[in-house]
Amino acid sequence: MTATMTRVFSFLLVVLAVYLWIGYSITELTGGGRESGGAVDISPEGGEAIYWGKGRCFTCHSVGGQGSAVRGPNHGQFGEKFPLPMGARAVERAKERSEKEGTDFTAVDYMVESLASPGAYVVKGYKNEMAVVYAPPISLSLVEIKAVVAYLMALGGDLDMEAIDTTPSEETQKFYAKISAAAAAGGGDPGEGAIIYEDNCTDCHTLNGEGGEVGPDLTGISAKGLKFISESILQPAKSLTKGFETYVAINKEGRQTIGLKTRDEATEIDITKANGDVVTIAKEDIKEIKIDETKSVMPDDLAEALTVKDYQDILSFLMLQKPQAAR
Ligand code: HEC
Ligand code: HEC
Repeated sequence: MTATMTRVFSFLLVVLAVYLWIGYSITELTGGGRESGGAVDISPEGGEAIYWGKGRCFTCHSVGGQGSAVRGPNHGQFGEKFPLPMGARAVERAKERSEKEGTDFTAVDYMVESLASPGAYVVKGYKNEMAVVYAPPISLSLVEIKAVVAYLMALGGDLDMEAIDTTPSEETQKFYAKISAAAAAGGGDPGEGAIIYEDNCTDCHTLNGEGGEVGPDLTGISAKGLKFISESILQPAKSLTKGFETYVAINKEGRQTIGLKTRDEATEIDITKANGDVVTIAKEDIKEIKIDETKSVMPDDLAEALTVKDYQDILSFLMLQKPQAAR
């Protein structure tokens, strides 16, 4: 009982945080609240400030003789263990990544990957303990991450601002998309989100051609925006998707069938229930049929079934579902 209450409560907190965040980003977009943000330059200097400040990189990393942390690899040239500073080292790591993945990794791709998916490549001799720096408590924005990449690339490497910022490679763009989506969803992990989606949603929803057909197709759902998606999960009945209204059919014996009207012929209708069962009812047996606007066929207790983290993960996963290019 208490556990449920705590869960529901922390859930409300997250929802509140998401809404505050939306409000905040709108303020940012409209140019309000400038002074509070402290704009970051996408440059080695901007990145240096983040590295030794908000990014907290210095709590695990050092740069050459600067700093004393040893939990993560030194980012400078340091002793026999680190013959190359990070910018030059990234070129070597990129070669390793290209071989392993079979795709062309550039040095910038490697650097961005190490921030977007720290577990993808774990430096030999270290544990998979690199922080997810776009999630709380560090919560770097994409701009701040680009700045940090510029700082590290400038350490003995080729500083190519186009590859970092203006015209990133396809690989880097994918990592950036992951970071933005996750940051937007309060730091969720889209990879975990995919698993939670499989477990809770796929029976009713189609995504990229796979899944059930009880609810609307969610392919490209990110276009509807974070606020809409989070509301759809937390309060499905608040805005029922057109064509997916909840019907209540009562037969002459008074028995109710509740679900979506998925077929309507001259003599009979089909009602598809939330569990996917299809019930065919002859029209002459129906005493009353009405739409219940206060209920969705989508369960409204998902908030209780999911943990806060599940919810953030699934939001970030859905925010990555971009409309497919027309073929
Ligand atoms: C909680 C400790 C921790 C924090 C905070 C942290 N890192 Fe790391 N980082 C690690 C560890 C441990 C590794 C090695 C394991 C791995 O490769 O994932 C690593 C690896 C890396 C690598 C790959 C290094 C190489 O030699 O290839 C880069 C780049 C990196 N971190 C950048 C950053 C940046 C930038 C920040 C701050 C925004 C940061 N890290 C914050 C622990 C941390
Ligand atoms: C029992 C079937 C069912 C399950 C399980 C289910 N949904 Fe739904 N979902 C629906 C139905 C029916 C609708 C349309 C009615 C409405 O808007 O509430 C819907 C609507 C939605 C919408 C709005 C889509 C749009 O384009 O308007 C989103 C987003 C959504 N669901 C996400 C999810 C997620 C995420 C999960 C898993 C955590 C999930 N659903 C689980 C049946 C389901």
